[in-house]
Amino acid sequence: MTTTLANIRREFPLLARTVRSKPLAYLDNAATTLAPRAVQERVQSYFSSCTANIHRGVHYLSEEATRQFEATRRKVQKFINAADPAEIVFTSGTTQSINLVAHSFGQQFLQAGDEVIITEMEHHSNIVPWQLVCAAHGCKLKYIPLTTSGALDLDELPQLCTPRTKLLAVVYVSNALGTLNPLPQIIAQAHRCNVRVLVDAAQAVSRLPIDVQQLDCDFLAFSGHKMFAPTGVGVLYGKKELLDVMPPPYTGGGMIAEVTLAKSTFLPSPERFEAGTPNIAGVLGLDTAIDFITSLDRQELQHQEDELLHSATAALQAIEGLRIVGTAEPRLGVVSFVVANVHPHDLGTLLDHEGIAIRTGHHCTQPLMRFFGIPATARASFTIYNTPQEVERLAAAVRKAIRFFT
Ligand SMILES: Cc1ncc(COP(=O)(O)O)c(C=O)c1O
Repeated sequence: MTTTLANIRREFPLLARTVRSKPLAYLDNAATTLAPRAVQERVQSYFSSCTANIHRGVHYLSEEATRQFEATRRKVQKFINAADPAEIVFTSGTTQSINLVAHSFGQQFLQAGDEVIITEMEHHSNIVPWQLVCAAHGCKLKYIPLTTSGALDLDELPQLCTPRTKLLAVVYVSNALGTLNPLPQIIAQAHRCNVRVLVDAAQAVSRLPIDVQQLDCDFLAFSGHKMFAPTGVGVLYGKKELLDVMPPPYTGGGMIAEVTLAKSTFLPSPERFEAGTPNIAGVLGLDTAIDFITSLDRQELQHQEDELLHSATAALQAIEGLRIVGTAEPRLGVVSFVVANVHPHDLGTLLDHEGIAIRTGHHCTQPLMRFFGIPATARASFTIYNTPQEVERLAAAVRKAIRFFT
């Protein structure tokens, strides 16, 4: 273990615990990452030193909480290089961010006969909102198909974009396969046809530096709990020119300019999209998570994570009867696999008895599973605190499970 890795692991108290009398090997990072001590302390500090509602209070604690909350907005802006803090909307996570765009963009820009393009590898949270919004507005939902290795078949994209296409929504890194999609190419192609692009960056945000101006995406969504922050907080980035004309999908306190008995007017973005009391403690936790990430040598950690992924892939591939699902390169952080005659859930249960946490199931990507002709996979996902020893334990435990079941 390198010193860096040992130091990083020390920041995550949960890694020291045992489960089922075995040291925990936490390989379910694509579902949720653990929170470092500093993030836990920051969340706690909201309750111990500045609990108050934001934006509305004139008293000291409210002003303090508001200051910290708005400072986080500017930190997120810098983190993803957005042009303006008004382009950063706090949400409960990727799911809410995408739903917000689907409903609000849909209401403003979609008309009967228009088209939306998504892909066959999306998480359900980037499929279902578009199905509902397209049905509501009489629009057609089209899908970029897949290649057998689990990449997007981008040869199809030019034909899919027509003058009626208004938006393309695409995942940056697949949560089920780890495929890293070539966003610059996709966004350039979409923009050539005047199609707006939403990026689901849930899996990318902890793994890649994100620069929304360089990417030139129109919207980008991510969740705090996949980048070492608490659950229940996330971000929607949107270009100001779009957010400024999009109607609020939810209404209530904190987002109005004026309410009379006859009508209401709304504040501009971001308040317009943040009705009600937000997850203030979660937002402050996100602030510290960003500090944590940016304090690290991200390039070096990315390199370490890639090595883990490739050694895990090689070790698993060497096991007879095991098949890796999704072999397209480049891949980040995730290896999905199936074993002949062993259901992924049984595999996951046996691995759990070895103290190894992986995820099994359809990973909220049923169309993708259907494409591969399988109901589910076992998925190990890695992040900055995982070790080569954990990869060895994973492969050994899979071998043991196969012996048990066959
Ligand atoms: C690629 C992707 N998109 C969207 C989501 C939904 O994220 P959340 O549940 O945090 O809203 C996930 C969660 O696993 C994901 O991996």
